[in-house]
Amino acid sequence: MLVQSEGDTNSTASRRAWQARALDAEARALLERDRRAFLHQSVSTPCLNAIVRAEGIWIEDTAGRRYMDFHGNSVHHIGYGHPRLKQAIAAQMEALSFAPRRYACETAVLLAEKLCAIAPGDLSKVLFTTGGSDAVEVAVKIARAATGRFKTLSFWDAFHGAGVGAASLSGEALFRAGPAAPLVAGAQHVAPFACYRCPYGHAVDVEGKPFLERCGMACAGMVDYVLAREGDVAAVIAEPVRAVPYVPPAGYWQAVQAACRRAGALLIFDEIPSGLGKTGRMFAAEHERVVPDILVLGKALGGGMLPIAAVIARGELDVGGAWAFGHYTHEKNPITARAALTTIDIIEEEGLVQHAARLGVLALERMEEMKQRLAAIGDVRGRGLLLGIELVRSRAEKLPDDALAETVLYRALDAGLSFKTTMGNVLTLTPPLITTEREMLRALDILEGAIAAGP
Ligand SMILES: Cc1ncc(COP(=O)(O)O)c(C=O)c1O
Repeated sequence: MLVQSEGDTNSTASRRAWQARALDAEARALLERDRRAFLHQSVSTPCLNAIVRAEGIWIEDTAGRRYMDFHGNSVHHIGYGHPRLKQAIAAQMEALSFAPRRYACETAVLLAEKLCAIAPGDLSKVLFTTGGSDAVEVAVKIARAATGRFKTLSFWDAFHGAGVGAASLSGEALFRAGPAAPLVAGAQHVAPFACYRCPYGHAVDVEGKPFLERCGMACAGMVDYVLAREGDVAAVIAEPVRAVPYVPPAGYWQAVQAACRRAGALLIFDEIPSGLGKTGRMFAAEHERVVPDILVLGKALGGGMLPIAAVIARGELDVGGAWAFGHYTHEKNPITARAALTTIDIIEEEGLVQHAARLGVLALERMEEMKQRLAAIGDVRGRGLLLGIELVRSRAEKLPDDALAETVLYRALDAGLSFKTTMGNVLTLTPPLITTEREMLRALDILEGAIAAGP
């Protein structure tokens, strides 16, 4: 069986059973029209339910049932439908609604300047795309141009986007196998850091922390090994904190960056889900004290309303002047740029990064308590508001309990909490940065009750 890290499988008996008891006639009718109108694909169509409203941390279905959205595709840092963002977009539509690529427009320039001002280290040149997948591919093209090489090294189990180039970097069969191939040549993979289930077979202590002195951080060592053996890799590309979620062992990225430097490869951080405060710092890279050569942003950049992604690179990587790496129609769209500028203002002015850091600590403490009480919880982990609870059939053997994870998913929906699972058995929580302490504790109460109720 193929290993799949994406969750929300849309064809299971549990989903059908939940739909049979939860959906009203209006949702059923809309789901049927959606099923007929859209090409089907795993993890989206056919859909779970139909929503009519999204506001703050809440989504509301056709039956008027409200769910705290602890998934939100990681676009909803500032909450859905932020009034200030709506006003800013409306005003921008009046002032200037589009800029053909050959013309500068101040809103796009302001956004580029702002991103360079908040980005770590010496990242100082920007390109915009409409989606994250495209931005990842632009980053790789820059690395190719700068190094004169074409190979990349990325993680198994990662997702970097659905385009052929980005899917080649991704490490899960859903996006790489079957009709997605042939993939881009030279896209090499390596096993990622994943301390609870170390791909190199190293154990963790009772608290789930790695014994670094024993494992010698074999996961970072293997990146070094592959880079040295290949000898001509253009870039290592990865999420600094993995969306599964997995937090890197301390020093991991410093070791990988040193390996990149020795091998002449660039380091690209895909911060599409983790950027703009999700982990309790504006960029996840800041936790690692590592400045990548290129950083990619997307998702929440458009405030959960408009699609925009960005590539932010070191100034010396401005080497593509004779080519066209990011020749996208909406490259300098003033409306999407305004949405991003306003989103960053809101994140800064509402203190959402600091709030995410505080709330994440509180949530992890509460999750640790749950783990003490419930044997079905094998591991809890995360950083800021990127959190995971891994369910197992046996703590000693760490047997994944996919069936319980799915049961918990639907029980939580019944109680008004929406989230997704990854790797089959990890309850993955990515709440908005505006989530209050009360809402967080309520969500964790729902989860504790749903797990405690058993299989
Ligand atoms: C880590 C990561 N990279 C890239 C992407 C692709 O972004 P988009 O869906 O905007 O193309 C995603 C989307 O889920 C992602 O999570």
